[in-house]
Amino acid sequence: MATPLISPSILSADFARLGEEVRAVDQAGADWIHIDVMDGHFVPNLTIGPDVVKALRPHSDKTFDVHLMISPVDPYLEAFAEAGADIITVHPEAGPHVHRTLQAIRALGKKAGVVLNPGTPVEVLDNLMDLVDLILVMSVNPGFGGQSFIHSQLDKVRAIRGMIERAGRDIHLEVDGGVNPETAKLCVDAGADVLVAGSATFKGGPSQYAANIAALKGEV
Ligand code: DX5
Ligand code: ZN
Repeated sequence: MATPLISPSILSADFARLGEEVRAVDQAGADWIHIDVMDGHFVPNLTIGPDVVKALRPHSDKTFDVHLMISPVDPYLEAFAEAGADIITVHPEAGPHVHRTLQAIRALGKKAGVVLNPGTPVEVLDNLMDLVDLILVMSVNPGFGGQSFIHSQLDKVRAIRGMIERAGRDIHLEVDGGVNPETAKLCVDAGADVLVAGSATFKGGPSQYAANIAALKGEV
């Protein structure tokens, strides 16, 4: 299979040692760092805000892939941009005007991502293809790490890979939720080029991170 980029979700890291954890996965071969922001309203869990992103920024030069699961989302874009996000990804359900939200992310000089929940149809992308740098397919319902991969989302990944080819633009296709070495291969074969992995990266502690990331890349 083609080698995917791996974006470890720090949701599965030791939150008491978050800076060290980010450094450890960076050195273990992570390509990006996936940061899950949850508000207890758009999704049933609470995580971190822009101050934590800012505090983590000195710990890695890798792309900060910030997944916002907050509603409303527009009032917080600037804070995450200033905190050091490189890619800001939003759910179309998190605000009334997703096109405007993506424009706002780009106006802040950041890459813009849109994310589809398992129940969200691909048609939402039809009028966004010229504005997005990344499309994220959720293969679990958002809110928690450690859930099981929803296989029906692979058809969606295949459909979106076709849409990206027809658009003729350089757009990353990322999958998030329940990614492990077996489901990673399915995602890549379906057309994904970036994989988020929380529990599969952080399991076993720091001594295992390099092996875990290599396994996700299909290198072992
Ligand atoms: C879920 C988050 C995911 C999650 C992935 O709402 O968006 O990024 O942390 O965790 P795993 O890889 O354990 O399914
Ligand atoms: Zn995520």
